[in-house]
Amino acid sequence: MIPEKLLNSVKENPFLLAPMAGITDAAFRSFMRELGCGVVVTELVSATGLKFSSEKTRKLMEFDESQHPVGIQIFGEDLDSLDYAARVVEQMGADFVDLNFGCPVPKVVKRGAGAALLRDLKALQQVLRVVKSAVSIPVTIKVRTGWDEASRNAEQVAQVAADEGITWMAIHGRTRAQGYSGQADWDYIGRVVQESPIPIIGNGDLTSATKAQQALSKSGCLGVMIGRGCLKNPWIFRQAMGKDQEKDFKLLLERLFYHLERRYEDRLVFLQVKKFAAWYSAGYPDSARFRRQLFELKDKDQLKAEVFEFFALMQRLPQTDTSHEPFLMGGHG
Ligand SMILES: Cc1cc2nc3c(=O)[nH]c(=O)nc-3n(C[C@H](O)[C@H](O)[C@H](O)COP(=O)(O)O)c2cc1C
Repeated sequence: MIPEKLLNSVKENPFLLAPMAGITDAAFRSFMRELGCGVVVTELVSATGLKFSSEKTRKLMEFDESQHPVGIQIFGEDLDSLDYAARVVEQMGADFVDLNFGCPVPKVVKRGAGAALLRDLKALQQVLRVVKSAVSIPVTIKVRTGWDEASRNAEQVAQVAADEGITWMAIHGRTRAQGYSGQADWDYIGRVVQESPIPIIGNGDLTSATKAQQALSKSGCLGVMIGRGCLKNPWIFRQAMGKDQEKDFKLLLERLFYHLERRYEDRLVFLQVKKFAAWYSAGYPDSARFRRQLFELKDKDQLKAEVFEFFALMQRLPQTDTSHEPFLMGGHG
């Protein structure tokens, strides 16, 4: 059975890459697969946008063979569009459809999509029913713990999901009202695991391999999703799997350039690498100066030379833990 195959992939590698709009594009997913992550999911794609066949929307759904098992995440509130979008996901050869019920962004929740569905379990159930009957590949969901502190209901959502034949539920351990403030509540995730009839994937604030391993074993989740943690530490997945503790910046940068240059023109490669290099430099001596310098560079070749030189110097230096600093405090889930 197909769900067994997908569940087995998570058992083999329980450290999944969390979807991050504008970051986990096809190039990044291939890069992280190479660096040892498990299952990957695209960023959220608008079901309505897809129905009106926006070229940009289709681009977000692209993936290549190296990424399997890969899910495509869709969101929306219009049942016809969701039905259509789920069929497109299956036709494209994705391994599963993921439904976004976690997006806290006002533009999305105002129209009744994303985390808004956590407040209306009847509507949520209808969405699940429509999408489930549109496809034969597994359907998964990604939620928040609830709309706000007073209405946390991930246990009930898991029950509805189980009744509708959903394969797993990923939970970002914050409410919609929290946005990205406070801490992900892993005790609550653990309680949902106890009660849920379907497997749970936990998510939130796993900024080191040790935190990811501990959250996995303590919560009893089938797997955990890592988002922002892999942006400052791209080796986090390998370390969590107990492999290859050695950081090799030269190889890392070569692979980063390889994946970006395959897909993008120089101008975009230039912009992307600046972003990644700034993140990778967090906690290294002199990183503030390095980041200022990055933003003065004019072309890709100049940038390439600078980043290889800086990280060659950092290779043997210790990295200070910067996980307490606010970092990317906004997103679609
Ligand atoms: C920039 C950014 C974009 C995001 N985009 C999505 C998205 O498209 N779909 C989704 O389900 N979650 C999205 N998220 C939420 C993440 O998947 C994850 O739930 C959240 O960042 C908490 O996990 P972390 O602490 O490991 O980053 C996004 C988060 C960030 C920071």
